[in-house]
Amino acid sequence: MPNPLVVANWKMNGDRAFAGAFFSALDLSGVVADVAICPPFPYLMQVVESAGKMGSGKLSVGAQNVSAEEAGAFTGEVSADMLGDCGARYAIVGHSERRTLYGESSELVAKKFAAAKGAGLVPIICVGETLEEREAGRTLDVISAQLQAVVDHAGAESWRGVVVAYEPVWAIGTGKTATPEQAQEVHRFIRERLGEAGVETPLLYGGSVKGSNAAALFAQQDIDGALVGGASLDAKEFTGICRAAG
Ligand code: PGA
Repeated sequence: MPNPLVVANWKMNGDRAFAGAFFSALDLSGVVADVAICPPFPYLMQVVESAGKMGSGKLSVGAQNVSAEEAGAFTGEVSADMLGDCGARYAIVGHSERRTLYGESSELVAKKFAAAKGAGLVPIICVGETLEEREAGRTLDVISAQLQAVVDHAGAESWRGVVVAYEPVWAIGTGKTATPEQAQEVHRFIRERLGEAGVETPLLYGGSVKGSNAAALFAQQDIDGALVGGASLDAKEFTGICRAAG
């Protein structure tokens, strides 16, 4: 069983003062799970420093996005090497907000995934279906295609040493969580798909995870942790989720 992992995705929220206050209120005593904080880019180094000061080997930092390119004339982009250089361990790729609001295709997500891996980062690749796709009974097909894009670009071997997050689009930021059974069904499917490649990676659930629903989700056999948006902006609430993970 992979070690539980709880990831905070602050999205485009917070400022320097928020980041400072967050770490003052975060209490990881007794937490068994690995924990990662993904702030907006400008606060990455501040958060790396704060996480280092907490002196917990379990706490690391990630980026919310990464360029598919290595270096060069790509205005506004941030490379995987730069993220590693700033102390990041993880990079989220393929978040549904990037796929839908910024038109990132599964092919581009696969390139970002490979770029992150190539630079020694751990990609956290997000997959998930829309409500329309779920209601049409296409959930597993959609997830399958999103996973296949990575295999096509980087090969099945590339699943080793990564994290996969299942985030149903209809559950993100809506307060509407997938039931533990709905999440488990998809996690089992992903586990089996990756298992065909002989790989066991941590599988996170994301979508309106809070202190009050985390334990029921983590009780499912194939849910190894969470990718937390809104509730990660409240250090106490986030601490509760980390505790629930183990
Ligand atoms: P949420 O976001 O917890 O606010 O639903 C999760 C995510 O987008 O990663």
